[in-house]
Amino acid sequence: MKTFLITGATSGIGEACARHCLAQGDQVVALCRNGDKAHRLFAPELASGQMVLLEHDLACNDGLYKQCLSELKPFKIERFIHCAGVGLIKGMASTTHAELLQLYETHLFALSEIMRALVRLCQFKYELSAVALSSVASPAYLVQNAAYGLSKDSVDHYVRLLNKQLNAAPQKRLPPPAQALAAAEAIEDPEQRARAVAIAQAQAGLMLRINALAPGMVDTPLGDCDTYLEQELPLNVIPMEVIVHWIFEILETPYMSGQTVVLNNDWVY
Ligand SMILES: NC(=O)c1ccc[n+]([C@@H]2O[C@H](COP(=O)([O-])OP(=O)(O)OC[C@H]3O[C@@H](n4cnc5c(N)ncnc54)[C@H](OP(=O)(O)O)[C@@H]3O)[C@@H](O)[C@H]2O)c1
Repeated sequence: MKTFLITGATSGIGEACARHCLAQGDQVVALCRNGDKAHRLFAPELASGQMVLLEHDLACNDGLYKQCLSELKPFKIERFIHCAGVGLIKGMASTTHAELLQLYETHLFALSEIMRALVRLCQFKYELSAVALSSVASPAYLVQNAAYGLSKDSVDHYVRLLNKQLNAAPQKRLPPPAQALAAAEAIEDPEQRARAVAIAQAQAGLMLRINALAPGMVDTPLGDCDTYLEQELPLNVIPMEVIVHWIFEILETPYMSGQTVVLNNDWVY
């Protein structure tokens, strides 16, 4: 049983991820802005304690770092999925400061404050793997939602930069796979054994990982297909189960960090 921290668990991709965790018996700490909505969606899980709420409006992240440090301290958060997000269908020239700020607060600043707290809490003593939702709007340079894409581009950069810092030192690694190590150590010939042990040790994955997933459209309130159809915008839809599958695949891959995985569904970019 692991404890997941999930933002945006009250709708769309975040909700689907939370339900996936709950179904596999994991605990979910849902960081959301609307406690009533969370109670309507997850009444039994909240009552049983399998889900716990942490309330914060991620449109303004003053105090989020300290709140996470104190309220997440009782939990051992090993997985983090940053799904909270806002859409904006607008060209760059007409995007206001307030709109840009909201996009950056929700997509990037919240991610940065939460990661800062999680890294401090885990102190490299246990595995921590995070996935942040990016978007193909960034690599595609979509003009219809340019500022949205810009904020997601910064998420991709953040993931690469944080990874570079976190994984600079070799000691921040997981233990090597026990079976491979035991098999290597059982080899009689000293030269062969040394070689096999070195290979087994080199199979140790990364203790701290952060990646991004940039999907094409997913039919949710944010990616609302009706709006795109009405405005004759390109529509490349990816099923929710595929998104959830990839989020968990990335989270559990010990050999990957600092990457953006793109599920573009033929979106040209
Ligand atoms: N859907 C797509 O086509 C698509 C494609 C690529 C990337 N993405 C990204 O995937 C992520 C999830 O999107 P989605 O489609 O699942 O969207 P969604 O269904 O609209 O869900 C967005 C979630 O973010 C939460 N949220 C928004 N602003 C918040 C704030 N200020 N404070 C706290 N929580 C806030 C919402 O909370 P409430 O329930 O309280 O509103 C909701 O739970 C987003 O980052 C989005 O950019 C989506």
